[in-house]
Amino acid sequence: MLIRNFIFWLSTKKALTDAIGRRGMRYGFAQRFVAGEALADALDASRELAQDGRRVSLNHLGENVRTVEEAEHARDSYIEMTRQLHAAGLDGNISIKLTQLGLDFDRRLCERLTGEIAAAAGELSRSIEMDMEASKYTDSTLDIFEATVRRAPTTGLAIQAYLFRSEHDIERLMRHKPKIRLVKGAYRESGRIAFQKKSQVDSHYRKRIDQLLDHCAEGRCLPAIATHDPLMLDHARAGIKRRGLTPDRYEFQMIYGIRRDLQQALRAQGHPLRIYVPFGTEWCPYFMRRLAERPANCWFVLRSLAAESFHRPRSSA
Ligand code: FDA
Repeated sequence: MLIRNFIFWLSTKKALTDAIGRRGMRYGFAQRFVAGEALADALDASRELAQDGRRVSLNHLGENVRTVEEAEHARDSYIEMTRQLHAAGLDGNISIKLTQLGLDFDRRLCERLTGEIAAAAGELSRSIEMDMEASKYTDSTLDIFEATVRRAPTTGLAIQAYLFRSEHDIERLMRHKPKIRLVKGAYRESGRIAFQKKSQVDSHYRKRIDQLLDHCAEGRCLPAIATHDPLMLDHARAGIKRRGLTPDRYEFQMIYGIRRDLQQALRAQGHPLRIYVPFGTEWCPYFMRRLAERPANCWFVLRSLAAESFHRPRSSA
């Protein structure tokens, strides 16, 4: 937990994130979790994943935009991504972040742009999914999700099992028969609202799997179990089997570049699997969250930066 907090603290240090941002793609370490900087890179990665039937959810990295122009640009980019996914004949959708669509400064604008993206995707019979960001956005994200899912019923939403409130939030949403992506949660949250210990988060995650699978068995939701934790996967697989759920009624989800061994195993067992494929130039905050999840990841960043210093010609020092 200490190291995790330290990495979150580092991620607020602009000089460091700028340095990582300048070097990450050039020296290859960002490519561990990010498909590339352009949509074409993400589509290439998606084609490769499609070879063994993995679906994708493309995310154009970026968050906390400050102007209407940036928010509208993000909307245009998401609509274009949907069109290109469709033109390429790939089994995929898009994942959006509401702070990329103006949630920080104009909630109505954010809701309108989200609706426009969902409508454009719907015209191509494609869905969208909403990421869940830090807890100060949870209420407004739930409200915007509900407004969107009424008009675009295939819209999905991430729910974070580390929040005490997640059981109640799931119950609130069931009337929409929604797709729910269950994640553990990737932000630093206070002990007043979120479980802090891994054992507590895992126990709560198992309970939320059961809650969603029970609702699924009654036809009230489509659960997407989004984790790389083998114990959580075992729990979900056993629950799916016990309830006799067929593969069209649930899916698993994992992140691009993480636990490819488990990804292949799930596919070999015949489970539907979607891979979250992020791309874009604004990859640093996303990348830092992946480091915080697994501090051992820091070593390959440090190795890359050390190699760069070691190989740098003396004249440029
Ligand atoms: P846990 O962190 O316990 O890790 C279990 C095992 O997985 C580790 O032992 C390791 O083997 C592997 N692993 C996990 N993270 C790794 C990493 N970064 N590098 C290498 N190995 C790693 N969160 C959120 O707050 N809002 C959201 O919208 C989303 N969306 C989302 C979509 C998808 C498809 C996934 C899979 C995850 C998210 N998340 C998210 C992130 C999620 O909240 C969580 O932080 C990560 O999935 C890590 O948690 P695990 O469930 O994998 O378990």
